Amino acid sequence: MEKVILVTGANKGIGFEIVNQLSKKGHKVILTSRDRKRGTQAVNRLAEEGLNVHFQQMDVTNIEQVEATAKEVKTLFGKVDVLINNAGIMAKGDISMPDTDLSVWQQTMDINVNGPLIVSKTFIPIMPNGGRIINMSSGGGSMTDSVGGWSPSYCVSKSSLNALTRHMAYYLQNNGITVNAMCPGWVNTDMGGSSAPRTVYQGADTAVWLATKEDISTGKFWRDRKEIPW
Ligand SMILES: NC(=O)c1ccc[n+]([C@@H]2O[C@H](COP(=O)([O-])OP(=O)(O)OC[C@H]3O[C@@H](n4cnc5c(N)ncnc54)[C@H](OP(=O)(O)O)[C@@H]3O)[C@@H](O)[C@H]2O)c1
Repeated sequence: MEKVILVTGANKGIGFEIVNQLSKKGHKVILTSRDRKRGTQAVNRLAEEGLNVHFQQMDVTNIEQVEATAKEVKTLFGKVDVLINNAGIMAKGDISMPDTDLSVWQQTMDINVNGPLIVSKTFIPIMPNGGRIINMSSGGGSMTDSVGGWSPSYCVSKSSLNALTRHMAYYLQNNGITVNAMCPGWVNTDMGGSSAPRTVYQGADTAVWLATKEDISTGKFWRDRKEIPW
């Protein structure tokens, strides 16, 4: 069944590849980017491959822009079946707990945690029963794995996103909307760097699977199509 699917931070990296794969499967995909030029260039790259993807400019921390996007999506498509909260940052100055500047902590929490919250709260009213929210988290946010000592504000932001996922799943269970978090593994993107062993194709796979598989549970953490501990 064709779905309407919105992906945040999709002008490059894993988000772009998620759009690519979902569009190839025949879904109506909305590629969002905080930068209009980068977003339209990404849509044009897909158009060259014959893929018809809709573009919306949307910074996930900009409430007015998120609300305007939801209004536009409602007018054009009537609903959003799947929301993929993919946008995220790992700031250069995110060095160690004592040395990371407070402004870095604040910006990271703003984009990686408040962003998905703002976008989800705004789009939930146009999600039908059966709707899905997929939060792009990271193994770095795990409270079970040992702490790696890298990018502390990033890792804490992903732990918070995991907690948010569980709370949203609880509150939305009676609306028939599922909420899950996933880790793409260590992926070769601008964020992951060129030493990362995984391709964007591999990084996008679990998101595409969660978006399209027939039955889906809620409030879980996934990697490689398998549930992993929080
Ligand atoms: N790569 C990995 O190894 C890895 C591992 C675990 C989890 N993840 C997660 O996977 C997701 C995608 O990462 P990636 O590796 O594809 O990184 P990436 O190539 O750096 O892409 C990140 C995307 O997020 C966008 N973005 C940043 N701030 C935004 C904002 N305020 N509003 C809207 N979009 C914003 C970026 O836009 P601009 O181009 O405008 O900056 C870009 O499109 C992130 O949530 C990341 O934490 C990645």
